[in-house]
Formats: sequence, C-alpha cells, structure tokens
Amino acid sequence: MSMHPLALCVGIVLLGGSASMSYADDRIPAEAKVAEGDRVDLHSFSKPNQVRVEHVRLFLTVDFAKKELRGEAALRYKREATAPRNAPLVLDTRDLTIEAVMTDGDPHLDNRLSYTLGKADPILGAPLTIAIERDSGEVIIRYRTSPKASALQWLDAPRTAGRKHPFLFSQSQAIHARSWIPCQDSPGVRVTYDAEIRVPDGLGAVMAADRVRQQGNVTTFKMDKPIPSYLIALAVGDLVFRPIGKRTGVWAEPSVVDKAAYEFADTEKMVEAAEKRFGPYRWGRYDILVLPPSFPFGGMENPKLTFATPTVLAGDRSLVALIAHELAHSWSGNQVTGATWRDFWLNEGFTTYLENRIIEDLYGKDRATMEAVLGKQELREELAKFAPRDEILHVDLKGRDPDEGMTRVPYEKGALLLKRLEDTVGRDKFDAFLKGYFDHFAFKSLTTDDFTRYLRAELFPKGPEPVDLHAWIHNPGLPDDAPEPKSERFAAIDKLAATWSDGKVMARDLRAADWSTLEWLHFLRALPAKVAPEKMRELDNAYNLTDRGNSEIASQWLLLAIRNGYTGSDARLDDFLTSIGRRKFLMPLYTELSRTPAGKERARAIYKKARPFYHPIAVESVDKLLGVGG
Ligand code: BES
Ligand code: ZN
Repeated sequence: MSMHPLALCVGIVLLGGSASMSYADDRIPAEAKVAEGDRVDLHSFSKPNQVRVEHVRLFLTVDFAKKELRGEAALRYKREATAPRNAPLVLDTRDLTIEAVMTDGDPHLDNRLSYTLGKADPILGAPLTIAIERDSGEVIIRYRTSPKASALQWLDAPRTAGRKHPFLFSQSQAIHARSWIPCQDSPGVRVTYDAEIRVPDGLGAVMAADRVRQQGNVTTFKMDKPIPSYLIALAVGDLVFRPIGKRTGVWAEPSVVDKAAYEFADTEKMVEAAEKRFGPYRWGRYDILVLPPSFPFGGMENPKLTFATPTVLAGDRSLVALIAHELAHSWSGNQVTGATWRDFWLNEGFTTYLENRIIEDLYGKDRATMEAVLGKQELREELAKFAPRDEILHVDLKGRDPDEGMTRVPYEKGALLLKRLEDTVGRDKFDAFLKGYFDHFAFKSLTTDDFTRYLRAELFPKGPEPVDLHAWIHNPGLPDDAPEPKSERFAAIDKLAATWSDGKVMARDLRAADWSTLEWLHFLRALPAKVAPEKMRELDNAYNLTDRGNSEIASQWLLLAIRNGYTGSDARLDDFLTSIGRRKFLMPLYTELSRTPAGKERARAIYKKARPFYHPIAVESVDKLLGVGG
C-alpha cells in the first residue's frame, strides 16, 4: 500500500515550495525574504504551502484497558495553485499505528490511498506522506495511538481524587498533538474541527470546543474557529460541571468541584476586565478544567476550556494569576498565534504582560507590581546561568525540542519589552495598539517579523523608534532600558529577611502570620544562600512552613530545606514529589537534591516511586536530569 519513494517530490527538505522559490528570487526585498524563511516551521514535516489541511473530523474510542485511542481522523485539505502538480499531503505523526488511508467517496469502490510513513526522528516523529489526486477533498486515516503517546496521560483510578474511575488527559503543546492525531502539527496551520468521542460507561469526555450533544457514551464536539493543532485537547474521567458566572464555570472530579468554584469565583470579572482592555472575547464560553495533580503544567490555555493544575487551589484565591494568564491567552496565543515555535514569545510575552494588567484591574497596582517583581527576579536567575543563545526572544530552536524553549525568557523578557513600549507611548495609546493588534491578526498566525513591521507602522510610523526593538528581540541579555518594577512592601520584606537572618530578631517577631502568598515567596527568596538548619527550624516552628498546603510556598520552602540540610521537611518533600507532577515544581527540587551525592541518591529513590505517576512530558525532563530511564 505504500507509494514508491521517488513518487514523492522533494521529501524531507523542510522548506515549503513557495517559500524556497521566493527565497531565490532577488526581486524580493531582503527583509521580506527573511520573513518568508522565518515562516517555515522547523518542527513540522508538513508543507502547508503546498497542501494545507483546513478541517478535521475525529471519531475516537477511548480504551483505558489498552491505553489507546483508536478510530479515524478525516482531514479536509486543499492543494495550493502554486504547489507542484502532484504535491502530496504531508502530516506529522509520533508513535501512531496507521491502519489505512482512504479518500472520501463511494465506500464500495477501492478508495485506499497510497502513503509512506517515514523514519521517525527522535524529536519530530515520523512524516506521513499521502498521495492525493484531487486538488481538494478529504483523506480518512484509520489509526491507533501508542500507550506511550507523548501527549496523553492515562491515570489508573488510584491516581485520581475520587479513586474510583480512571482518567485521561491530553497536553498537545508544543508538538505532542501528533502523538494522538495525524495532523499538520504547526502553530502556523489553523483548522476547525468536529469530534465524536466514545468513552466507557460511567465516564464523561470534555474537549476544548463547543459541546454539541451527548448520545449514550458518545459526546460530540465542535470547534468552529480556526485553531492550531497544539490547542486541540481532550480529557476523560468522572467529571462534573459547576457554573461560576454567566459564561464561566469549572469542570472537575466531584470531590474537587466546590473548592474549584470557590477558588475561581473571580473568573467572570477577569473576562470582563480583559474584554474592556483587549477587545471582545471571541470564544463564547470560558471554563476551567481542574486536572489530577500529575498535570505537568500550571495551566494550558486550551480554547474555551483552560486545563489547570489542582495545585492552584490554595483555598484563599492567592494563586489565581494563573487563571488570568491562561485567560489572557484567549487573545494572545489563541486568537493571535506565533507562526512557529521561534515566535513562542509572541504568545507568552504578550500573555504575561496581559496577565499583569488583568491582576492590576482586579486586585490593584500593589499586587500586580509584586507579581512583576517576582517575575523579573526569576528571569534574572535564569539569565545568570543561561548560554547567550537561550537569552534571545526570537530563539533559535533548530535541532531542539521546542519544549526546551519554555524558559522565563519568552515570558518575562517578552513582557518587559511590552511594558517598555507601554511606558514609552503611554498606556492609552498602547492599549489602543493592543486592541488593534488583536483585531488585525485575529485567527491568524504571525512571525516575529510580522509583529515588528506592524508595531513600527502603528506606533512609530515616522521612525526613528525610541526603543531598540532589534536589540530587545535578537540580542541576549536584558537591555539597559528594561523596566524595573518596585514594590515598597517587598522592600520592607527584604529588610525583615536581612534582620532575621542576621539574628537581630526572632522569627516570631517578624509578625508574618498573615502575610500573603506573594510576601512569603519574596521573603523566602530574599534569604541568604545559606541559613543554618536551627534557624530553618525556628522559622518552621513559628509559621508551620513545612505543612503549608499552598503549593508555591511549599515548593519554595522545600527548596530551602534541601539547600540548607534541614531535615524537618524530609517527609513533606517525599510526599510533595510523589503526589504532584507539575514540572515547574519538580525540576528545581530534583536539581537542588542532585547537587550532592547523597541528595542525588535520595532524588533517585523518590523518583523511582514517583515516576509511574508523572506525565510523559515530566518524565522526559526528570529522566534527563537524573540520568535514569529509557
Ligand atoms: N502555554 C503555557 C504552557 C506550555 C508552554 C506548555 C509551552 C507546553 C509548552 C501556559 O500558558 C503557561 O505558560 N503555563 C504556566 C503558568 C503561567 C501562570 C506562567 C505554567 O504551566 O507554569
Ligand atoms: Zn502561557
């Protein structure tokens, strides 16, 4: 059934036909040529310039016993007029078993298509190249996923809150969609989709899409806005829904849903605040799905349905900046998307900036500033240890897994650039610019170059520009004109941290019993590199830090405990690492443990217990860090 390799035009070469042709055309100005080259996504085998998928229909059965999804993906495609006459449809896959590839049309005729599944690349997976005759139509791929699909986590019942039913969830960003759907897995390719998901008795399915109908065990979904593949998302489990506002609500396991509804009570107000600043919310509903604790991220901005870690359920709404962040992606990221993973900072830098604006509108300037200070501090810590090439907004990810680009740089340096622009032109003008930007590029994917061209035309049409955009975007480090957020409250905490660590006051005299989460985080980070174990105990006895349920405070505290050889938190560390799978918490803790031989041994022992419970994405990172696994 596979086609002769020679029948495939240029094969593996990643440059799309039209892009490489215009590249060689010297009538095109140099800047535009660069822009064309930049549009090519190095992390996808697909050639959307030749044949582009526009709509996807999914028919999938969820099989917990086999840990597999199986069924069909029907892809409606169009061959571009400029493409070579026989240009095939090229898709991305990873660890998929392809059973048949067919065309639409009379089912009684032989409607099989010939295809080749190329050799698997360790980062990119394998290209699926399908010979197509017509310039437009639908190809239907019958396939099944692997139990080790990188996007999917299959949780046995004991790993869930209710412990009675299994749970499945997907995490497609950055390039994991291809491990559960054969697709053009590039943020530059947008599709609409329909899906029919069949689940076992007693379980429910949710997708980041409209819910169309429920018939027995089959739920039908529809996404009528064109979205990139990394935003396709599915979860299956014992899930219930609770409304929290007129277009907002939470999905969670029954024992978690009330806590979630309480924690996220401000969500509707956040949507309203964001709309006022950034233009209409174009996705209809905004709901939040609270996942089991092995969810490898804090949040994922799946459209209409943010996926969130239960570790934000602090009980006091102190960690809801995460919701502001994922909500903000509805504008930056989902409505307007970076065209390739090099342009990731357009998603995350904008979103970090927008997040802060939402926090300011809802909770005031002080809290927003504290969040910004913490963000910049995290950025500085990373910049101190990064190689220059990783300090660049328009990062070069050639030959690398795009998940490696997920550092504080695109988030915090990106947000600082936008803050710098806001400070330069004034808030009113910058807000108008943002609204215009989200409208102009709505449901489009743009490159960094598209962004700078648009920005220059809108904000600095007469040039010369007062902000050195080129340096900000293409140079390592932080430019001298980077904004410096300052919090008076934090300055006071700095003093307290110094007086206490110098032994001038006792812990209980810090009067820290009702400090906010942000104040605690700042205090703990402001302590000197070494704090004697007795002092750690004194602090712990005064404020019960070991037993804090707040995941951010706990992880910061545990980091100090490891660093300072404080054994009073040993059991808590064990428990934390074996019950939470959020990569942001795991990586620093395992890294800190690994600094000494005894610590490394301990890290490996804990990880041995914890590994089966982590998501494949977290497993991959921790395996690498500890030098274990496959
Ligand atoms: N889109 C990201 C998560 C992501 C990025 C997943 C890259 C895979 C690859 C999401 O919006 C995010 O940034 N989440 C943060 C929380 C946020 C408050 C900074 C996280 O998970 O830590
Ligand atoms: Zn984000």
